[in-house]
Amino acid sequence: MVRRIVFTSGKGGVGKTTIVSSLGVVLARKGYKVLLVDMDFGLNNLDVVMGVENKIVYDIIDVIEEKCVAKQALIQDFFENNLFVLPSTRGYCKRKFGSQELIKIISEVEIGFDFVLIDCPAGIDGGFRRAVECAGEHIVVTTPHISAIRDADKIVNCLIGNLGVSPKVVINRIRGDLVVGDRMLGVDDISEFLGGEVIGAVPEDDSVALQLYFGGHIEKCSSVDDSLNMVADNLINGTGKLFDCTKKYKGFVGGIRRKIRGRV
Ligand SMILES: Nc1ncnc2c1ncn2[C@@H]1O[C@H](COP(=O)(O)OP(=O)(O)OP(=O)(O)O)[C@@H](O)[C@H]1O
Ligand SMILES: [Mg+2]
Repeated sequence: MVRRIVFTSGKGGVGKTTIVSSLGVVLARKGYKVLLVDMDFGLNNLDVVMGVENKIVYDIIDVIEEKCVAKQALIQDFFENNLFVLPSTRGYCKRKFGSQELIKIISEVEIGFDFVLIDCPAGIDGGFRRAVECAGEHIVVTTPHISAIRDADKIVNCLIGNLGVSPKVVINRIRGDLVVGDRMLGVDDISEFLGGEVIGAVPEDDSVALQLYFGGHIEKCSSVDDSLNMVADNLINGTGKLFDCTKKYKGFVGGIRRKIRGRV
Protein backbone atom coordinates (compact mmCIF):
# COMPACT_ATOMS: atom_id res chain seq x y z
CA MET A 1 0.00 0.00 0.00
CA VAL A 2 1.20 3.48 -0.86
CA ARG A 3 2.57 5.53 2.04
CA ARG A 4 1.85 9.26 2.03
CA ILE A 5 4.41 11.10 4.15
CA VAL A 6 4.41 14.86 4.71
CA PHE A 7 7.53 16.82 5.69
CA THR A 8 6.73 19.90 7.78
CA SER A 9 8.62 22.42 9.86
CA GLY A 10 7.89 25.41 12.05
CA LYS A 11 10.81 27.51 10.93
CA GLY A 12 11.44 28.01 7.22
CA GLY A 13 14.64 27.03 5.46
CA VAL A 14 15.45 24.03 7.66
CA GLY A 15 15.70 21.63 4.70
CA LYS A 16 12.25 20.17 3.94
CA THR A 17 12.60 20.49 0.17
CA THR A 18 16.18 19.20 0.31
CA ILE A 19 15.13 16.15 2.30
CA VAL A 20 12.00 15.42 0.25
CA SER A 21 13.98 15.55 -3.02
CA SER A 22 17.04 13.64 -1.80
CA LEU A 23 15.07 11.02 0.12
CA GLY A 24 12.94 10.56 -3.00
CA VAL A 25 16.09 9.87 -4.99
CA VAL A 26 17.41 7.47 -2.32
CA LEU A 27 14.12 5.51 -2.23
CA ALA A 28 13.96 5.43 -6.05
CA ARG A 29 17.54 4.10 -6.17
CA LYS A 30 16.41 1.32 -3.83
CA GLY A 31 13.79 0.36 -6.43
CA TYR A 32 10.68 1.98 -4.95
CA LYS A 33 8.30 4.01 -7.09
CA VAL A 34 8.17 7.49 -5.59
CA LEU A 35 6.04 10.57 -6.18
CA LEU A 36 7.19 13.94 -4.84
CA VAL A 37 4.30 16.37 -4.37
CA ASP A 38 4.93 20.08 -3.91
CA MET A 39 2.26 21.45 -1.58
CA ASP A 40 3.96 24.77 -1.11
CA PHE A 41 1.77 27.11 -3.17
CA GLY A 42 3.66 30.23 -2.10
CA LEU A 43 7.45 30.08 -2.28
CA ASN A 44 7.60 26.68 -3.96
CA ASN A 45 10.85 25.33 -5.35
CA LEU A 46 10.75 21.52 -5.40
CA ASP A 47 10.61 21.68 -9.22
CA VAL A 48 13.75 23.85 -9.27
CA VAL A 49 15.65 21.62 -6.85
CA MET A 50 14.68 18.57 -8.96
CA GLY A 51 15.72 20.40 -12.14
CA VAL A 52 12.34 19.84 -13.82
CA GLU A 53 10.96 23.39 -13.87
CA ASN A 54 11.36 23.61 -17.67
CA LYS A 55 9.46 20.35 -18.13
CA ILE A 56 6.29 21.63 -16.45
CA VAL A 57 3.29 21.73 -18.79
CA TYR A 58 0.54 21.42 -16.17
CA ASP A 59 0.59 21.83 -12.40
CA ILE A 60 -1.75 21.09 -9.48
CA ILE A 61 -3.69 24.33 -9.98
CA ASP A 62 -4.34 23.36 -13.63
CA VAL A 63 -5.71 20.04 -12.38
CA ILE A 64 -7.96 21.81 -9.83
CA GLU A 65 -9.18 24.16 -12.61
CA GLU A 66 -9.84 21.09 -14.80
CA LYS A 67 -7.49 22.20 -17.57
CA CYS A 68 -6.01 18.69 -17.54
CA VAL A 69 -6.31 15.37 -15.75
CA ALA A 70 -4.06 14.75 -12.77
CA LYS A 71 -1.76 12.27 -14.56
CA GLN A 72 -0.84 14.90 -17.17
CA ALA A 73 0.78 17.04 -14.48
CA LEU A 74 3.26 14.33 -13.44
CA ILE A 75 6.87 14.86 -14.49
CA GLN A 76 9.30 11.97 -14.70
CA ASP A 77 12.75 12.50 -13.23
CA PHE A 78 15.67 12.79 -15.66
CA PHE A 79 17.73 10.02 -14.05
CA GLU A 80 15.41 7.70 -12.12
CA ASN A 81 12.56 6.13 -14.12
CA ASN A 82 10.54 5.39 -10.98
CA LEU A 83 10.70 8.93 -9.57
CA PHE A 84 8.04 11.56 -10.44
CA VAL A 85 7.29 15.14 -9.42
CA LEU A 86 3.86 16.77 -9.12
CA PRO A 87 4.49 20.55 -9.21
CA SER A 88 2.32 22.98 -7.23
CA THR A 89 2.02 26.11 -9.35
CA ARG A 90 4.14 27.96 -11.87
CA GLY A 91 2.97 31.41 -10.84
CA TYR A 92 1.47 33.21 -7.89
CA CYS A 93 -1.52 31.24 -6.65
CA LYS A 94 -4.61 33.30 -5.78
CA ARG A 95 -7.05 30.41 -5.88
CA LYS A 96 -8.66 29.14 -2.67
CA PHE A 97 -8.89 25.37 -2.21
CA GLY A 98 -8.77 22.84 0.59
CA SER A 99 -7.23 19.49 1.35
CA GLN A 100 -10.18 17.63 -0.24
CA GLU A 101 -9.21 18.78 -3.74
CA LEU A 102 -5.60 17.78 -3.11
CA ILE A 103 -6.52 14.39 -1.64
CA LYS A 104 -8.65 13.70 -4.73
CA ILE A 105 -5.72 14.53 -7.03
CA ILE A 106 -3.25 12.39 -5.08
CA SER A 107 -5.70 9.48 -4.98
CA GLU A 108 -5.96 9.63 -8.77
CA VAL A 109 -2.22 9.56 -9.43
CA GLU A 110 -0.75 7.49 -6.59
CA ILE A 111 -1.89 4.08 -7.87
CA GLY A 112 1.17 1.92 -8.43
CA PHE A 113 3.44 4.11 -6.28
CA ASP A 114 5.12 2.94 -3.07
CA PHE A 115 5.76 6.37 -1.54
CA VAL A 116 4.21 9.82 -1.89
CA LEU A 117 6.50 12.39 -0.25
CA ILE A 118 4.79 15.75 0.35
CA ASP A 119 6.75 18.99 0.65
CA CYS A 120 4.85 21.32 3.00
CA PRO A 121 5.20 25.09 3.46
CA ALA A 122 6.85 26.21 6.71
CA GLY A 123 4.72 27.41 9.59
CA ILE A 124 1.39 26.56 11.05
CA ASP A 125 -1.18 28.34 8.86
CA GLY A 126 -3.67 27.04 6.25
CA GLY A 127 -1.05 25.63 3.88
CA PHE A 128 0.40 23.50 6.66
CA ARG A 129 -2.98 22.11 7.66
CA ARG A 130 -3.93 21.38 4.07
CA ALA A 131 -0.73 19.43 3.43
CA VAL A 132 -0.87 17.59 6.75
CA GLU A 133 -4.43 16.42 6.11
CA CYS A 134 -3.33 14.80 2.85
CA ALA A 135 -0.84 12.48 4.57
CA GLY A 136 -0.96 9.37 6.70
CA GLU A 137 2.50 9.88 8.20
CA HIS A 138 4.07 13.09 9.45
CA ILE A 139 7.71 14.09 9.77
CA VAL A 140 8.85 17.32 11.39
CA VAL A 141 12.17 18.63 10.07
CA THR A 142 14.32 20.82 12.27
CA THR A 143 17.90 21.99 12.51
CA PRO A 144 19.78 21.91 15.84
CA HIS A 145 19.35 25.67 16.27
CA ILE A 146 17.30 26.84 19.26
CA SER A 147 14.79 28.89 17.23
CA ALA A 148 14.14 25.98 14.83
CA ILE A 149 13.74 23.52 17.72
CA ARG A 150 11.28 25.80 19.51
CA ASP A 151 9.19 26.13 16.34
CA ALA A 152 9.44 22.37 15.73
CA ASP A 153 8.11 21.83 19.24
CA LYS A 154 5.03 23.93 18.40
CA ILE A 155 4.44 21.87 15.25
CA VAL A 156 4.87 18.57 17.14
CA ASN A 157 2.37 19.72 19.78
CA CYS A 158 -0.05 20.96 17.13
CA LEU A 159 0.12 17.63 15.28
CA ILE A 160 -0.39 15.64 18.48
CA GLY A 161 -2.93 17.97 20.14
CA ASN A 162 -5.02 19.26 17.22
CA LEU A 163 -4.70 16.53 14.62
CA GLY A 164 -4.17 13.49 16.83
CA VAL A 165 -1.11 12.18 14.98
CA SER A 166 2.33 11.17 16.33
CA PRO A 167 4.97 12.83 14.19
CA LYS A 168 8.51 11.59 13.69
CA VAL A 169 11.49 13.94 13.57
CA VAL A 170 14.42 14.45 11.21
CA ILE A 171 17.26 16.68 12.43
CA ASN A 172 19.08 18.32 9.54
CA ARG A 173 22.30 20.34 9.19
CA ILE A 174 24.04 18.83 12.23
CA ARG A 175 27.62 20.07 12.61
CA GLY A 176 29.39 17.10 14.20
CA ASP A 177 32.44 19.21 15.05
CA LEU A 178 30.29 21.64 17.08
CA VAL A 179 28.39 18.84 18.82
CA VAL A 180 31.65 17.19 19.94
CA GLY A 181 32.87 20.59 21.16
CA ASP A 182 29.57 21.08 23.10
CA ARG A 183 28.71 24.10 20.97
CA MET A 184 25.64 22.59 19.33
CA LEU A 185 22.83 20.45 20.73
CA GLY A 186 23.16 16.76 19.90
CA VAL A 187 20.50 14.33 18.70
CA ASP A 188 19.72 12.99 22.20
CA ASP A 189 19.11 16.47 23.66
CA ILE A 190 16.84 17.46 20.77
CA SER A 191 15.01 14.16 20.88
CA GLU A 192 14.38 14.54 24.61
CA PHE A 193 13.11 18.09 24.14
CA LEU A 194 10.80 17.34 21.21
CA GLY A 195 9.51 13.98 22.37
CA GLY A 196 8.85 12.62 18.84
CA GLU A 197 10.82 9.61 17.58
CA VAL A 198 13.92 10.80 15.70
CA ILE A 199 14.28 8.81 12.48
CA GLY A 200 16.97 10.88 10.83
CA ALA A 201 20.20 12.72 11.67
CA VAL A 202 21.49 14.53 8.61
CA PRO A 203 24.83 16.35 8.68
CA GLU A 204 25.58 19.78 7.34
CA ASP A 205 27.31 18.97 4.06
CA ASP A 206 28.62 21.16 1.24
CA SER A 207 27.56 18.54 -1.32
CA VAL A 208 23.94 19.68 -0.79
CA ALA A 209 24.79 22.92 -2.60
CA LEU A 210 25.74 20.86 -5.68
CA GLN A 211 22.35 19.14 -5.68
CA LEU A 212 20.93 21.91 -7.86
CA TYR A 213 23.40 21.08 -10.62
CA PHE A 214 22.36 17.42 -10.66
CA GLY A 215 18.57 17.72 -10.68
CA GLY A 216 18.09 17.07 -6.98
CA HIS A 217 20.43 14.09 -7.03
CA ILE A 218 22.62 14.07 -4.01
CA GLU A 219 26.15 12.77 -4.51
CA LYS A 220 26.29 8.99 -3.93
CA CYS A 221 28.16 7.97 -0.77
CA SER A 222 28.31 11.55 0.53
CA SER A 223 27.49 11.87 4.22
CA VAL A 224 24.03 13.24 3.37
CA ASP A 225 23.39 10.28 1.05
CA ASP A 226 24.49 7.84 3.80
CA SER A 227 22.31 9.57 6.39
CA LEU A 228 19.25 9.57 4.11
CA ASN A 229 19.77 5.89 3.31
CA MET A 230 19.44 5.33 7.05
CA VAL A 231 16.25 7.43 7.11
CA ALA A 232 14.91 5.28 4.24
CA ASP A 233 15.82 2.08 6.13
CA ASN A 234 14.07 3.44 9.21
CA LEU A 235 10.94 4.12 7.18
CA ILE A 236 11.01 0.74 5.45
CA ASN A 237 12.26 -1.62 8.17
CA GLY A 238 12.21 0.47 11.35
CA THR A 239 15.90 -0.26 11.89
CA GLY A 240 16.18 2.59 14.41
CA LYS A 241 19.70 3.45 13.29
CA LEU A 242 20.84 7.05 12.92
CA PHE A 243 23.85 8.46 11.09
CA ASP A 244 26.57 9.48 13.57
CA CYS A 245 27.45 13.03 12.54
CA THR A 246 30.10 13.26 15.27
CA LYS A 247 32.10 10.13 14.40
CA LYS A 248 34.66 11.75 12.13
CA TYR A 249 35.33 14.50 14.69
CA LYS A 250 36.25 12.16 17.55
CA GLY A 251 39.71 10.99 18.57
CA PHE A 252 43.10 12.40 17.59
CA VAL A 253 42.43 12.76 13.84
CA GLY A 254 38.92 14.01 14.62
CA GLY A 255 40.45 16.74 16.79
CA ILE A 256 42.52 17.93 13.82
CA ARG A 257 39.43 17.88 11.61
CA ARG A 258 37.57 19.96 14.21
CA LYS A 259 40.32 22.55 14.26
CA ILE A 260 40.36 22.76 10.44
CA ARG A 261 36.56 22.95 10.20
CA GLY A 262 36.52 25.69 12.85
CA ARG A 263 38.81 27.83 10.75
CA VAL A 264 36.97 27.61 7.40
N1 LIG B 1 22.22 19.08 5.20
C1 LIG B 1 22.45 20.25 4.59
N2 LIG B 1 23.73 20.69 4.43
C2 LIG B 1 23.98 21.87 3.81
N3 LIG B 1 23.03 22.69 3.32
C3 LIG B 1 21.74 22.30 3.44
C4 LIG B 1 21.38 21.08 4.07
N4 LIG B 1 20.03 20.95 4.04
C5 LIG B 1 19.57 22.05 3.42
N5 LIG B 1 20.58 22.87 3.05
C6 LIG B 1 20.47 24.16 2.37
O1 LIG B 1 19.60 24.98 3.16
C7 LIG B 1 18.81 25.81 2.31
C8 LIG B 1 17.34 25.65 2.66
O2 LIG B 1 16.94 24.31 2.36
P1 LIG B 1 15.48 23.99 1.84
O3 LIG B 1 15.07 24.90 0.74
O4 LIG B 1 15.45 22.54 1.59
O5 LIG B 1 14.63 24.35 3.14
P2 LIG B 1 13.05 24.38 3.29
O6 LIG B 1 12.76 23.93 4.66
O7 LIG B 1 12.42 23.63 2.18
O8 LIG B 1 12.76 25.94 3.12
P3 LIG B 1 11.31 26.64 2.99
O9 LIG B 1 10.76 26.65 4.38
O10 LIG B 1 11.63 28.02 2.50
O11 LIG B 1 10.49 25.83 2.04
C9 LIG B 1 19.15 25.43 0.87
O12 LIG B 1 20.06 26.36 0.35
C10 LIG B 1 19.80 24.06 1.00
O13 LIG B 1 20.75 23.82 -0.01
MG1 LIG C 1 10.94 24.27 0.80
